[in-house]
Amino acid sequence: PPIQPFSISFGADNATLEPQGQVLTRRMSDLEGLFADGDAWARAVADGDPVVYTVVSSPVPEVPRELPQSITTIYPGETGGEFWMTKGHQHPDPQGEIYLGLDGHGGLLLFDGERAEWLEMRPGTIGYIPPSWAHRSINVGDEPYRFLAVYPGSAGHDYGWVVAHGMGLRARRASAPRTGNGDTTHVD
Ligand code: 6PG
Ligand code: NI
Repeated sequence: PPIQPFSISFGADNATLEPQGQVLTRRMSDLEGLFADGDAWARAVADGDPVVYTVVSSPVPEVPRELPQSITTIYPGETGGEFWMTKGHQHPDPQGEIYLGLDGHGGLLLFDGERAEWLEMRPGTIGYIPPSWAHRSINVGDEPYRFLAVYPGSAGHDYGWVVAHGMGLRARRASAPRTGNGDTTHVD
């Protein structure tokens, strides 16, 4: 039967949705080949394999014409000096996607294969991902970074492209934080 109109209540403290669909947990071992420092990644996997992020979805299915939503929570952390991040992906059926910052301080890294863009994400920031741009989210703060994603149900997810091409930039803690603006992120 088709999905009926519904509203979702959101528990900000623990990122629960009611009603809730699938819940995905990505541990460090799921991020093989993505951090620049592979030895640091392997040590983190051996040392407890921490949860790096979770994705809770609404009950809207990923099928054509539907508009699924999910909330990602990236925990604060660094591996080999690089901030914790999502795997990153491209949508095989290129279509736009919208993110809304909910909690914490993050970055939305976009890469079209040639050009990389960095969007600062704070609570209330709307980040737009144009069709064909690969995207990765990064927690650059000390608290969980949380955002809502809304995307077309036919978009699909291609993770191999990012493994093969990278994301153009990496986000590390700045060795000498700039004073005044509180900027502690170094993107290169
Ligand atoms: C999507 C969104 C978003 C994303 C998560 C986890 O297309 O579904 O971009 O929900 O999937 O933030 O990131 P990864 O899918 O890259 O692991
Ligand atoms: Ni996406």
